[in-house]
Amino acid sequence: MDKERILEVRDLELHYFTRKGVVRAVDKLSFDVRRGETLGVVGESGCGKTTMGTALLNMPTPPGRIVGGQILVDGQDILKLSETEVRRRVRWEQISMVFQGAMNCLTPVYTIEKQMKETLQQHREMSKEEAKRRMVQYLNLVGLPEHILKRYPHELSGGMKQRIVIAMGLFLEPRVVICDEPTTALDVVVQAQIINLLKDLKEQLSLSFIFITHDLSIEAEVSDRIMVMYAGRIAELGTNEHIYGPQGPAHPYTQRLMAATPRLHEEVEELAFIPGTPPDLVEPPSGCRFHPRCHVVMDRCSRDELPLREIEPDHLVACWRCFNE
Ligand SMILES: Nc1ncnc2c1ncn2[C@@H]1O[C@H](COP(=O)(O)OP(=O)(O)OP(=O)(O)O)[C@@H](O)[C@H]1O
Ligand SMILES: [Mg+2]
Repeated sequence: MDKERILEVRDLELHYFTRKGVVRAVDKLSFDVRRGETLGVVGESGCGKTTMGTALLNMPTPPGRIVGGQILVDGQDILKLSETEVRRRVRWEQISMVFQGAMNCLTPVYTIEKQMKETLQQHREMSKEEAKRRMVQYLNLVGLPEHILKRYPHELSGGMKQRIVIAMGLFLEPRVVICDEPTTALDVVVQAQIINLLKDLKEQLSLSFIFITHDLSIEAEVSDRIMVMYAGRIAELGTNEHIYGPQGPAHPYTQRLMAATPRLHEEVEELAFIPGTPPDLVEPPSGCRFHPRCHVVMDRCSRDELPLREIEPDHLVACWRCFNE
């Protein structure tokens, strides 16, 4: 695979400053996104997936603030740019995001045309004809006909609305598109259609995707590499083969997540579950954050701060069990 990095994230930290205390939702994340790849991001609810997406756009939700790290696009740290520069040159232009539940946030009183046009014209000066041409082009790209422009959101199915918000994430031609749970709340047939659509788009436009979901079986379908997050940190980051191949994932958390994922065509006696719940991110556990729930925990897991290390080329894991020392 072409390994050109188009996005490099170093020690990224985003905290929410709440009355209960500081929520360390994204805690020193480092990873990169390569040209033309789909990077899957998985983990249980509350592990920081959406927060990471908003951080990459430099658009934290209040009371969140980015408190450390770098986000390099073409070698330039976008966290050092002014808000105006980010808005003009980076957000939606280089990196865009299809937000979790966005299809339910289309304004009910406006036609699709009006909503798409507004998004487009906020960013680019273009004539009416050019805007129309581009809207139709992107609607067609996501498999929708032109007459959809005249419709209101309530006249459309969930799958159609999801296609529209994907088109809106694409039409400024960004290089990285973050899709946050794009198939959740859709039936399985429409889910499969959206997944196939995203695969086609990736091929056609040579885009990179960050595909966020809590569903490991969907990641197996779409992602070239998988990043497993736990409690605001990366537990494991490897290729599709590392995670789903015969050897199986290395981190006990990924193993447990996998065992808890239902699979068709396989006889499973009983679906496993992970005991306990993800930790409170105001006062996360010491050492490895997964240690209170881990089935193979050792003494040092609660004691020693844990690095994310390469155990084989392109396969990083944060687990003391995986290091020979
Ligand atoms: N606006 C906010 N204010 C305070 N805390 C927040 C806010 N948004 C998220 N959090 C907290 O940050 C942590 C990470 O949340 P986030 O929404 O990023 O998780 P997620 O992995 O996207 O979960 P899900 O799978 O449910 O979408 C959680 O502990 C959450 O409670
Ligand atoms: Mg989320």
